Amino acid sequence: MSETPGSTPGRRSFLLAGLGVAGAGVLAACGGGSGAGRPALVSPSGAAVGAADGKRNRTGRTHEVSLVAAPAPVELGGGVTAGTWAFAGRTPGEELRVSAGDLVAATLSNRLPDRTTTSVHWHGIALRNDMDGVPPVTQTAVASGQDFTYRFLADAPGTYFFHPHVGLQLDRGLYAPLIVEDPNEPLSYDDEWVVVLDDWLDGVAGTPDEVYAELKRGMGAMHGGGMAMKHMLMGAESPLLGGDAGDVRYPYHLVNGRVPGDPQVLRSAPGRRVRLRLVNAGGDTAYRVALGGHRMTVTHTDGFPVRHQEADALLIGMGERYDVLVTLGDGVFPLVALAEGKNAVGRALVRTGSGAAPVADFRPGELEGAVATGSRLKAADDVRLPSGKADRVHRVELTGGMMAYDWAINGERFDMDDPARRPITVAEGQRVRLDFVNSTGMWHPVHLHGHTYQLGADGPRKDTAIVLPGRTVSVFFDADNPGRWLLHCHNAYHGEAGMMALLAYED
Ligand code: C2O
Ligand code: CU
Repeated sequence: MSETPGSTPGRRSFLLAGLGVAGAGVLAACGGGSGAGRPALVSPSGAAVGAADGKRNRTGRTHEVSLVAAPAPVELGGGVTAGTWAFAGRTPGEELRVSAGDLVAATLSNRLPDRTTTSVHWHGIALRNDMDGVPPVTQTAVASGQDFTYRFLADAPGTYFFHPHVGLQLDRGLYAPLIVEDPNEPLSYDDEWVVVLDDWLDGVAGTPDEVYAELKRGMGAMHGGGMAMKHMLMGAESPLLGGDAGDVRYPYHLVNGRVPGDPQVLRSAPGRRVRLRLVNAGGDTAYRVALGGHRMTVTHTDGFPVRHQEADALLIGMGERYDVLVTLGDGVFPLVALAEGKNAVGRALVRTGSGAAPVADFRPGELEGAVATGSRLKAADDVRLPSGKADRVHRVELTGGMMAYDWAINGERFDMDDPARRPITVAEGQRVRLDFVNSTGMWHPVHLHGHTYQLGADGPRKDTAIVLPGRTVSVFFDADNPGRWLLHCHNAYHGEAGMMALLAYED
């Protein structure tokens, strides 16, 4: 049930044989080391970045958009109002929709409290490095009161989203979907719904910074007695996630910004075919998603097409996206996002006819049916990377734990003040293999910026992949987007604790 590519002996040897790396891969020692021996790295706005960008398809059209980040009271439905940070006072923020090859010109206006810096990261988009929104790696953080305009080509169709890349702002309300339409869309469907999932506490039960402070005090503090655990979640168990499901307790799980008792109603008609674009914008929660009374056909993950696969439910880690097709029945159906291992749900309702909605915590039987996960999908033929020998192989060991809250990569907690201290290096033109080795007792959604890797020899193309505890997931990609990119756990709290690394192109 919780199989991971590369984790079973048969699958793994097949993968290695397919890549021709058994004994032949070049094992690059990790990074450049310290001080004098630092490797020369491509600069985020250097000539190599411009040259790679020049090869992108472009339509010549520009989409101008204004993103004003500011504190705001946001209505979550059911009488719940959260005092949070949001774009234009709503969460999720307004969807940004472009066509492949369009230029996005997005002006971020930081109207957050004094001395709060921010940025926008375009999650999953293989864009030019200096527009990736990761201060201080790809730009200077945008100070409060200041503006910054992101200008980039979005040339791969798919389902993406955007969010800040500063501290724990990912776990506030500053996110919105980004849909890149395919001018030659091969799927046919009647309706399309973007469905954004999020675990919510900001401005209701505390702030992400308070949560992090509690997590850092750690489990040690618990034993001292009298230390109340407000946010830390113990004993969240999920077989699908290989054990411990999460660290944080959330009072609400939102679907398109609404609590389950007062859900969004998606209206259509019986027999119509709908494309659902599902995005997990959560900080610490994987969702198992099902539409009561329906099976789904999985068509894409992380923007890229897969061989169509039928499923009753889907498992979506933080930062992952899935597109599915469903043919609607007649009635009222709950679209339920079960917070995996956390015994709570978020939901929307699909209405095509008459009938009463089920109770807010209803769990459709489909949740217990066949669950699609990234590890069970195959890349569609037209996006599968041809197998070839890896020119460079890096072991990316996920380390640390809940006890000291010292989540790290290769035993090293990432230092945002010295991001290039120990980079994972690649050279443009190389085929790169990364072995994500999870030595921790918990699952991690591992996200690489600027690239869409492939899981194993014929698995899906993805930019965020779930790595179960004790397992190894091998991914590969062609190094064709020069710059300095983050590779990190998309659990907001693990990332902040240091489970990040810099993947940098050698100059
Ligand atoms: Cu959603 Cu570093 O990204
Ligand atoms: Cu993690």
